[in-house]
Formats: sequence, structure tokens, C-alpha cells
Amino acid sequence: MEPMKLAVAKGRIAEKARALLSEGGIAFPDTLYDERKLVITSIDGSFQLLFVKAADVPTYVEKGAADIGIVGKDTIMEDGKDVYELQDLGFGKCQLVVAGFPGSFPDDAKYLTVATKYPAITKEYFDKAGIRTDISRLNGSIELAPIVGLSEVIVDIVETGSTLRDNGLVVLKEIAKVSTRVIANKASYATRTEEVQTCIELLKKGVKERREDSYQT
Ligand code: PRP
Repeated sequence: MEPMKLAVAKGRIAEKARALLSEGGIAFPDTLYDERKLVITSIDGSFQLLFVKAADVPTYVEKGAADIGIVGKDTIMEDGKDVYELQDLGFGKCQLVVAGFPGSFPDDAKYLTVATKYPAITKEYFDKAGIRTDISRLNGSIELAPIVGLSEVIVDIVETGSTLRDNGLVVLKEIAKVSTRVIANKASYATRTEEVQTCIELLKKGVKERREDSYQT
């Protein structure tokens, strides 16, 4: 039987997924986490973790290179890929917001310049609000944009709010609440439903047990 392939973002989410599966009895080789190793297979051969860039998780899952993915709701919204979103794991909670200097998003705004890592979400949000936009797509340090006049506002995720605060910026509007989700390839879900469900149950169980232990990441 082919292993279930699980695409996870390199780093914190990857380590967490491995820990949660291990606690659920899916042991992985006892090697130190190595950023350069891109695939690890569980000792029993039933699971494979694929370490990819967060923004690429939905692509691996949509194309069937991975059966399941663990990824933020923000990435799912931005990508609009044809996958099933099956479970909110309840961690990685943040808000997707419009932010900027106080007063930079007036109620009667007709046109705004916006910097963001999320151009599709941004366009949809402002189109719905009837506001024309000039969107600059950036890859990081979004908060710099209003400071140097690249844009009037930004669309970004806020977790603790400290990056905004440290740069004199505030939340102007909430677009959505986001958290870490499990997505699945549609064909995999149809043909390997039980294995997909088992994987989700293991992840959910681990998250719940950690919450009960007040384990925070
Ligand atoms: C994210 C996001 C904000 C920051 C918010 O950036 O784009 O900049 O985290 O977190 P906070 O509310 O806890 O301060 P990330 O750390 O991913 O780095 P980036 O700027 O390279 O995107």
C-alpha cells in the first residue's frame, strides 16, 4: 500500500505535524530535524511527510502529489485551489486584516493603494466594497509599505499585533479569522477515505491533548 502523503509547511508546522502523528503511534525515524531533508517516511511505511513552502501546499494537494495538506486558511483563500477543506485544527489562529496608519481607510474611500502577500483576497475584498485599488504584491515585511509611501494600507495577517504596533500601524478592518486547516485531494479522499479520516483523527487528538495540557506553541 502506498503511504499517505502529507504536505506540510517547512518549519514549525512540519515539526508539529510530525510530533502529533508520533504521539498518535505513527513513529518516524529518530533523526534530528533537518531542513534539507524534504521527505520523511514513517517507520511502518504508512505515512510520508513532504516538506514544502506554505504557499505551495494547496498545489501539491490539488495535483495529487500529496493526499493531504496542512496549511493556513489564508493560503487556502488566496489560492482558490480545487481541494476539500476538511478540518480546522484550531491552532495558528490569526486575523487577516486591512491595516495602516489610523485614518488611512476612510469610510468614503473610492480608491486605495494596497500592499500585500494576498493579491487575490485583496482584490475580492475591495471589489466587493466598491473600492478601486492599485495592489502591490510583496513577499514579506509588508508593514514597511505604508511607512515608506509604497501604499496607503496593507492586507496582512496579524497574530500578536506587535509588528503593527512597533511600526505605528493599526488594524482598520478585519477581513477574516484564519487558522490551520487540513485539506485533501479529491481523488484521494474518494479512494482512501478511511486513511484520510484516520490521519485527521490523529492530528485532532494530538491538538486536543496538547490543549488540555495547556501546551502552547
Ligand atoms: C507575518 C505577517 C506579519 C507578522 C504578524 O509575517 O506578515 O508581518 O507575521 O505577526 P504579529 O502580529 O505577531 O506581529 P512573517 O513573520 O511571516 O514574516 P514576513 O514579514 O517575512 O512575511
